Amino acid sequence: MIPDPHQAGSDELQSHLEGEGLNVRDVHGAILREKDDPRDGYEPIPLWLVSAFMALVFWAGAYLSFYSGGFQADVFDPVQVSWAGGGAAVKGPPDPMVVGKRLFTANCVACHQPTGLGVAGQFPPLAGSEWVLSGDWHGDNHLIRILLHGLQGPVQVKGSTYNGAMAPWKQLKDEQIAMILTYIRNEWGNSAPPITAEQVAKVREETAGQTEPYTQTQLQAIPAIKYESAAPPAPEGQTAPGGADVPPPAPAGTPLATPAAA
Ligand code: HEC
Repeated sequence: MIPDPHQAGSDELQSHLEGEGLNVRDVHGAILREKDDPRDGYEPIPLWLVSAFMALVFWAGAYLSFYSGGFQADVFDPVQVSWAGGGAAVKGPPDPMVVGKRLFTANCVACHQPTGLGVAGQFPPLAGSEWVLSGDWHGDNHLIRILLHGLQGPVQVKGSTYNGAMAPWKQLKDEQIAMILTYIRNEWGNSAPPITAEQVAKVREETAGQTEPYTQTQLQAIPAIKYESAAPPAPEGQTAPGGADVPPPAPAGTPLATPAAA
């Protein structure tokens, strides 16, 4: 008797068939050679569709290689563009009043407001602020330090005292901080020379050991530097907390002495 294939193990079935002088392959050979009857709805993919798909893949590849910007992550960041040799048509460096405004809107506007006036009693104004414009005892170096490391505790801005805290912005790139600062120094009626990425980089390096937001008292102890000033002799004792030397103002004509924006 032929074992029931659903119950018998395949070995048992095999040995039975072999006993009959048959083997599984021979028995099924004919079935294996048969092709399925064509069925409705399962036609092979038409050739035109295959070629259209190939053409699409080719076009996509070409498109990517033309417009991918070399697959560099920074290519769409207007502050971080490195077009050098790229051949893309970008005229001149990005405008801080455009890019800086965009960054300000993204990062600062919630507290300091689009008007730059802040919120009375909570967020100090940037419009007319001596911190922003390096007025009074304030220097460009103080402004950059605040942005990099934050500010906390009582501060005086335009005759009012604020007592809040601003978190550091050191996660922003030097170029970005420079653009924001240049923007806030020249918006809302403010007018002050631009801050450059080099200046920010320098302060970032000098203050690498700073782990806490500054207080006004701490900053006041750091002699003011106004980068744009045409090299008066450096005041004595320009030593930042932590021992790093604060460089004297750059003489006119060096890259640090950036001419005021037109
Ligand atoms: C979460 C709210 C908040 C955000 C966002 C914020 N700030 Fe501030 N900022 C403050 C507060 C609060 C102070 C005052 C800190 C204190 O009282 O010690 C301050 C102080 C300042 C000061 C010095 C005081 C003055 O008014 O001139 C500057 C300059 C400044 N911020 C710039 C910026 C810039 C630029 C950004 C965006 C990159 C920014 N802030 C984002 C809350 C904020």
